[in-house]
Amino acid sequence: MLGEKNIQDCLQKEIFENLSILPSNINLSGAEIELIGVEEKEYLLRNALKEVKNDYDFVIIDCPPSLNMLTINSMCAGDTVLVPIQCEYYALEGLSQLMHTIDLVKDRLNPELEMEGVVFTMYDARTNLSLQVVENVKSNLNQKVYKSIIPRNVRLAEAPSYGLPITKYDARSTGAESYRLLAEEVIHRGEEDW
Ligand SMILES: Nc1ncnc2c1ncn2[C@@H]1O[C@H](COP(=O)(O)OP(=O)(O)OP(=O)(O)O)[C@@H](O)[C@H]1O
Ligand SMILES: [Mg+2]
Repeated sequence: MLGEKNIQDCLQKEIFENLSILPSNINLSGAEIELIGVEEKEYLLRNALKEVKNDYDFVIIDCPPSLNMLTINSMCAGDTVLVPIQCEYYALEGLSQLMHTIDLVKDRLNPELEMEGVVFTMYDARTNLSLQVVENVKSNLNQKVYKSIIPRNVRLAEAPSYGLPITKYDARSTGAESYRLLAEEVIHRGEEDW
C-alpha cells in the first residue's frame, strides 16, 4: 500500500489448495499515519488488486472492526460487503452505523459498492440472547440475511492456534459444515432454489 513492493511479491500463492493469501503484519497498524498526504489514498488497495483480481474467483478482504483508512480502502476495492454479526450482544447500533458508512462510500468513492449480506456467528442455541439478536437484526434491517448461521464451536476456536483453516483442522466439525453451507449460499447468490 505504500508502494514499496509489488503485489506479486507479497502474494503467498496456493498455501492451501485453491487458496492464496496476501498477509499483513503488525506494521499495517501504522498505515493510517503513513498514508497522510498520500494522493488517492482511498484507492491504493483497489489499484494494487487490479493487477491480480482476474486470476481469482473470489477475493475476500478481511477488515478490522473499526472504521479507518484501511476499511475505506477495502470498501473502495470491493464489490460487496459481507457483515458478520456476533450473536452475543446487542449488535444493531454498530450495524446501522456501518450501513451509513457503506452509503457514504457508495455516494462518494465507490458507486458500485453493494451489500452482500449479513451472517450471524457465535450462535449459541442454549441462550435466549442469541435468538434475540438474530430476530432483532432480521426485523430491523432490510438486508439479505444468510440462512446458514455459524454456531459457537470449539473446533473453530482451536483452528487458528494451529495455523489451519477449519476445513483442514477438522473438516467434519459443525463449524466447518456451517462455513461450507455459508460458502455455497454466497457462491449461489441471487439464484433462487439452488
Ligand atoms: N463460531 C465460533 N465459535 C467459537 N470460537 C470462535 C468462533 N468464531 C471465532 N472464534 C474464535 O474467536 C476468536 C476471534 O475470532 P476472529 O478472529 O474470527 O474474530 P474477529 O472479529 O475477526 O476479530 P478481530 O476484530 O480481532 O479481527 C478467535 O480465537 C476464534 O478462533
Ligand atoms: Mg478479524
